[in-house]
Amino acid sequence: MSQKPELGQSKQYLIAPSILSADFARLGAEVTDVLSAGADWVHFDVMDNHYVPNLTIGPLVCEAIRSYAVKDGKPAMIDVHLMVEPVDRIIPDFAKAGANLISFHPEASSHVHRSLNLIRDQGCYAGLVFNPATPLDHLDHTLDLIDLVLLMSVNPGFGGQSFIPSTLEKIATVRARLDRYEQETGKHIRLEVDGGIKADNIAAIAKAGADTFVAGSAIFGKPNYVDVIAAMRTEVSKV
Ligand code: DX5
Ligand code: ZN
Repeated sequence: MSQKPELGQSKQYLIAPSILSADFARLGAEVTDVLSAGADWVHFDVMDNHYVPNLTIGPLVCEAIRSYAVKDGKPAMIDVHLMVEPVDRIIPDFAKAGANLISFHPEASSHVHRSLNLIRDQGCYAGLVFNPATPLDHLDHTLDLIDLVLLMSVNPGFGGQSFIPSTLEKIATVRARLDRYEQETGKHIRLEVDGGIKADNIAAIAKAGADTFVAGSAIFGKPNYVDVIAAMRTEVSKV
């Protein structure tokens, strides 16, 4: 699939289920099901037992699900969240495996600017990820090179953790900064939040300024994906 999915407009709320909580024995079907249930993107968590204390999936699995990640007849965004260190060696492998957006944690790269350029040179959108205690300084010199800011609302490594409330303030800070940047340049950068998002807190997260919501256990832990995604959309539509 060569067609690159679009990033979406400002103020368009997108739901990105994390397949970390899916049934790995039937991953292709899970991807198809969650997208046809109303999800927008596929969030793909890559952990290396080094940067984070867990080990998950890599480019081979990305390639395996590529043909299942389809929405309305078009390729859906595969949103790769790299929790690996270092990052550069593996970026081209993910691009070749059909990833569309690749985000990494700046402290896991010795040369953040180079890693962002590498992602873009491979034809993918690029994102930077900030842990709950990571300061936002890395945005100072990178906004021109990024398409998405991903704020962690849990410490990365595991699904099913609770949302850390202080993230709301950080979301508002980034929102103001991205709005200012959009006014100055016309470029929209998405603001994604990841960890502990559920139907009962998604409205507060949207109100703080997020526009893209990762949810793993809240979606895949429920028997009916249509119902839970619809409940999330109802909540964000109230904002
Ligand atoms: C955590 C991952 C998340 C996680 C989210 O390290 O980056 O994407 O799967 O899972 P929930 O929604 O269950 O917190
Ligand atoms: Zn993630």
